[in-house]
Amino acid sequence: MSTYRRQPVAFVEGRGALLFDAEGREYIDLLGGIAVAGVGHAHPKIAAAIAAQSEKLIHTSNLFENPLQEELADRLAGLTGGMSSFFCNSGAEAVECALKLARKWGSTHKGPGAIEIVAAEGSFHGRTFGALAATGQPTKQARFAPMLEGFAHVGYGDLGAMEAAVGPKTAAVILEPIQGESGVIVPPAGYLAGVRALCDERDALLILDEVQTGMGRTGKWFSYEHSGIRPDVLCLAKSLAGGLPMGACLATPDVAATFVPGDHGSTFGGGYVQSAAALAVIDVIEVEGLCDRAAFLGERLAKALGTLFDRCEVRGAGLLIGVDLGAPLAGAFCSAALKRGVIVNDPTPSVVRFAPPLVIAEDEIDRALNVLQEVWDEIRPA
Ligand SMILES: Cc1ncc(COP(=O)(O)O)c(C=O)c1O
Repeated sequence: MSTYRRQPVAFVEGRGALLFDAEGREYIDLLGGIAVAGVGHAHPKIAAAIAAQSEKLIHTSNLFENPLQEELADRLAGLTGGMSSFFCNSGAEAVECALKLARKWGSTHKGPGAIEIVAAEGSFHGRTFGALAATGQPTKQARFAPMLEGFAHVGYGDLGAMEAAVGPKTAAVILEPIQGESGVIVPPAGYLAGVRALCDERDALLILDEVQTGMGRTGKWFSYEHSGIRPDVLCLAKSLAGGLPMGACLATPDVAATFVPGDHGSTFGGGYVQSAAALAVIDVIEVEGLCDRAAFLGERLAKALGTLFDRCEVRGAGLLIGVDLGAPLAGAFCSAALKRGVIVNDPTPSVVRFAPPLVIAEDEIDRALNVLQEVWDEIRPA
């Protein structure tokens, strides 16, 4: 179906932050499959883990115990201060799980009808009906009405608006720590901590959607660590299993206990091969120090982009960076960059997004910047 406007290029091979087309032409990937290839393309340890596991066992069912899924849940618990995991196959599904968990928690813990979810304008949480209802972008909802009820949207970064919206019927607030799809929007300092305090005061859950920001991308395992807070529920996907489809909804043990057998499920969720891949991803991030690397390279890249795109706003954290060109030039910029062998994308008409593999080499960044300088010199308004 025609759901994508595709660029006229196909890649047949990848290595680290490089991609190659069928003619052997090299591209420097500053997008990482939209923040999926955190450990890079064709990482030997991920490839080996997937190959070895697929030769042993690919699927049984969540009707049976799965030691790899348990090991992965333990590793994620270790990274999140003891959260429990539910595994699924995508970001949208991780959000669906979070929304169901919040509704059940609200109506049992706070009282009947306490099922409302407060989300942010401009947010993106996925395309399925629950996630779409949470998504604060009317253009993405249009033509699919009616939306699931019980959602309110307030301005992102506006603590006063959040205070006005969270009440006795609120089960949860759902937020991205940085809004990726809206053009890498970073909320004001203190916002997440303020929302955390508000949720505590009004007895509502805080769901953080770290589908795009998680797994080291912003320079910490999870972006919330920059704010010194913890969510009650955490959504992960994208880079979790190195490019295999996997999502996870994590919750503190108290909140996770809301679900009983039969409340939720997934045929493929937490399967053997995805779990083996995710365990290898966590190992690689640890062994190669990729959180620190994302912080270091992110600062370096943002600084260079600030010089290259003088007079444009450069924002983000770690290796999730948006450059606001201040005019609807991002599409033309990305197409021209692709033609010259550098991959970036345009989440909005005026923003160019950078989410390269965390393993990208410094000289690859430098080479890409030289190309982007040429492109910008060509495209920038006089
Ligand atoms: C913050 C966030 N949440 C959810 C999703 C949906 O993830 P998926 O496309 O895997 O369903 C995305 C995808 O871009 C995202 O950025």
